[in-house]
Amino acid sequence: MRAMATLKPDAGRISRAAPGATPLGLKFCGLDFASPIVLLSGCVGFGEEYTRIEGFSNRDAGAIVLKGTTGKARLGNAPHRVYETPAGMLNAIGLQNPGVEHVVESILPQLDFSETRFIANVSGSTIEEYVEVTRRFDQSPIDAIEINISCPNVKEGGVAFGNYPDMSAQVVAACRRVTQKPLITKLSPNQTDIGENARRCIEAGSDALSVINTIMGMAIDVATRRPFLGNVQGGLSGPAIRPIALLKVHQVYEVARAHGVPIIGQGGITSANDALEFIIAGATAVGVGTALFYDPLICRSINEGIAEYLRSQGLANVTELVGSLRVTNETQDCAISG
Ligand SMILES: Cc1cc2nc3c(=O)[nH]c(=O)nc-3n(C[C@H](O)[C@H](O)[C@H](O)COP(=O)(O)O)c2cc1C
Repeated sequence: MRAMATLKPDAGRISRAAPGATPLGLKFCGLDFASPIVLLSGCVGFGEEYTRIEGFSNRDAGAIVLKGTTGKARLGNAPHRVYETPAGMLNAIGLQNPGVEHVVESILPQLDFSETRFIANVSGSTIEEYVEVTRRFDQSPIDAIEINISCPNVKEGGVAFGNYPDMSAQVVAACRRVTQKPLITKLSPNQTDIGENARRCIEAGSDALSVINTIMGMAIDVATRRPFLGNVQGGLSGPAIRPIALLKVHQVYEVARAHGVPIIGQGGITSANDALEFIIAGATAVGVGTALFYDPLICRSINEGIAEYLRSQGLANVTELVGSLRVTNETQDCAISG
């Protein structure tokens, strides 16, 4: 059941091949994606430089999500802002960005919208700031708006919006009121029941869900006994979080599929096999972020691997795989392992 009747006609439709689609082409919230791959926020700047990397083609990605954007410009956190871990990285960039006005006026005109979709990523310290930034993007050529609810709410003493279903739903409902564009909510894994949060965000008007954002962690320099990151704590991303992210996608899909709400599954994807796991678990699209830091052209091999798998399985389109996980009586989910 959708709370709002203000969506585009196609918004919220799950897993549909675009008419006349190639094996990898699909419709996502009514938008044509040439590939299920989405380049993730914070890993490709605002797209204007990344898409000029030699050998990269916009056609390799169904969509590109811009860096988190706030009402006013932000300088971000004190260094260090990133720290490499055995299977990923910690980051505490602190939402460095030039502010929404600059993004809309100076960066969006540089983007080539002909071959891929561009998605804004909205952040704020108050609900009013989320609304202000969403409204500004609504008046721009951007294709869709993703709201990152992992930011601390300064009015509520710094607790993250995304860790509490009530607060998450308030942000989504407020943003929904000011935009007709597809609205994607990026869920935090740092909470007790991500399925309940997903349900509340859908009922508040979210057309799609991004699952998951980074998992909080830290690292200490034992020589100085200081935290490596200037912000003390940071978000862990990369292969280290992949099994956690996959389970969260599986849990959210259980809720989202009943509402026809698609998921962008993400967290540590570095290969076609990883991407296929997320799609089988219920993701309509798959995000690639940290992997781009060491292989900016990785999308091409992931696309090729997915297409090869579809051929081997006799499937015409990637959407036929979405949520095709086979759970039998012998392999029932169980809350307790070991
Ligand atoms: C350096 C860095 C900056 C990020 N900045 C943002 C951001 O501004 N907004 C956001 O929603 N997510 C941000 N993320 C999270 C990613 O978009 C993604 O959800 C997460 O890293 C998991 O995917 P991955 O393991 O493929 O990187 C950032 C991640 C990294 C590594």
